[in-house]
Amino acid sequence: MSYPEIRPRRLRRSPAIRRLVEETRVAPAELVLPMFVKEGLAEPRPIASMPGVVQHSRESLRKAAAEAVHAGIGGIMLFGVPVRKDETGSGGTDPDGILNVAIRDVISEVGDATVVMSDLCLDEFTSHGHCGLLAPDGTVDNDATLAAYAEMGVAQAEAGAHVVGPSGMMDGQVGVIRKALDAAGHADTSILAYAVKYASSFYGPFRDAVESSLEGDRRSYQQDPANLRESLREVRLDVAEGADMVMVKPALPYLDVLSAVRAEVDVPVAAYQISGEYAMVEAAAANGWIDRDRAVLETLTSIRRAGAQIILTYWAVEAARMLRDRY
Ligand code: PBG
Repeated sequence: MSYPEIRPRRLRRSPAIRRLVEETRVAPAELVLPMFVKEGLAEPRPIASMPGVVQHSRESLRKAAAEAVHAGIGGIMLFGVPVRKDETGSGGTDPDGILNVAIRDVISEVGDATVVMSDLCLDEFTSHGHCGLLAPDGTVDNDATLAAYAEMGVAQAEAGAHVVGPSGMMDGQVGVIRKALDAAGHADTSILAYAVKYASSFYGPFRDAVESSLEGDRRSYQQDPANLRESLREVRLDVAEGADMVMVKPALPYLDVLSAVRAEVDVPVAAYQISGEYAMVEAAAANGWIDRDRAVLETLTSIRRAGAQIILTYWAVEAARMLRDRY
């Protein structure tokens, strides 16, 4: 019988030695909490497919933003749900639209204590649920949409957003928004580009969260899950157009893409752990099939290990607390 000379298990034998050799750590400052605010709500309202996540009222959003700051997370990403949606998504560009009002509320509550980001896309505001304006033939009109995005970006910057996050996957969106921000005197507002965004089934619960009326799908503008090289082209374009940070979305099913993107560009890379990723873990945990807290930290660690420097996650505040106890 011959014995192994090399024994990797030596470095796993106690919590202390495991902690010493741990290669990847997630810090609360790298986590960003996506938050929904619904126009006209008196009380926060639970989202059935995302247990633990709510549509906020303006008042509860302020409080939750203050809690997020207290938890030490890096930022929050705001999504607005208007009472009325229309063909052109006019609630998104209207300075008194719910998202712009909520940005002002949050900025007046937390100021510069955390990074306040806003989703820059029309789908929450359009009656048809698409991310852009429709051409007469029903297709999504790229260039007409760009003009609306430019206006929306300026409205968000004017409301005080530190970072705008274009997520509609229109060609040229980053460049057009950058130019509009600069022309309006908002050269200091950053752009976090959803550069790589796949047409994913895992967005399902989000559509509940924003009460989307989308019929059909977004495959004419979001990417085919089969493609990786295309993502590298997308991030190079967005960086050339002026993106300050780029994002990959979803996260867990696309870790290979994330690590390739990380190697491709030198701007900060974010990943969005989306609604369906959240719902899967919550649903399995509710059935007693997995250990929820361990699963949460395992997914975040994996996303970090694959190359994300910033992680958007609905568990941001809770994970920050767990991490604080751990280190
Ligand atoms: C578009 C947008 C979506 C998400 C973030 N921004 C929906 C989509 O593109 O279909 C999804 C986030 C999630 O699923 O958690 N405004």
